[in-house]
Amino acid sequence: MNWVPALARWLHILAGIMWLGLLFYFNFVQVPALRAAQADGTAAGIAKHVAPRALWWFRWAAVVTWLAGAALLGKDFASAFALEKSHLAIGVGAWLGTIMLANVWLVIWPAQQKALGLVAASDAAREAARRRAFLVSRVNLALAFPMLFFMAAGAHTAVYFGR
Ligand code: HEM
Repeated sequence: MNWVPALARWLHILAGIMWLGLLFYFNFVQVPALRAAQADGTAAGIAKHVAPRALWWFRWAAVVTWLAGAALLGKDFASAFALEKSHLAIGVGAWLGTIMLANVWLVIWPAQQKALGLVAASDAAREAARRRAFLVSRVNLALAFPMLFFMAAGAHTAVYFGR
């Protein structure tokens, strides 16, 4: 067995499931649940006990997914990110995943810290942060679909492109 790509692929898929599973959880479960819970005054428990834990696993799974993906690319890293024809599909997938990672760490997490009251913010700033986190999380949800398509196409070019 070729240990580095074998373990990196396993870890990449494992962490990718954790990351996207939580992304789907936020978009399909937590956002509507919090909306309903705010209406009947039961949101505090979700905001205090569930969301911070989910966000911890979410943002670190994103990092592990990226690092294991980079390890999988190995010597093809530059070709993929330069979108060379030989690595176009995996390159597009890797770029989409990288944009998603940047969104997690540079926008969603800082905004969620304000929205959940983990860092101090005025009511207006908290509301703006909540909206920003929501919209960028929706962007990542939309990017996840083409990203997974290109990720699978990059790993199985014969199935997708017949070569
Ligand atoms: C956004 C999160 C990501 C998820 C959920 C994800 C998921 C996947 C999946 C399901 C595969 C298919 C594995 C297979 O069938 O063998 C794959 C392959 C791969 N991914 Fe990702 N990926 C993500 C981001 C990235 C990023 C950012 C990079 C690069 C930095 C990357 C690099 C790769 C490579 C090199 C392969 C193997 C391609 C091959 O075997 O030819 N992935 N990924």
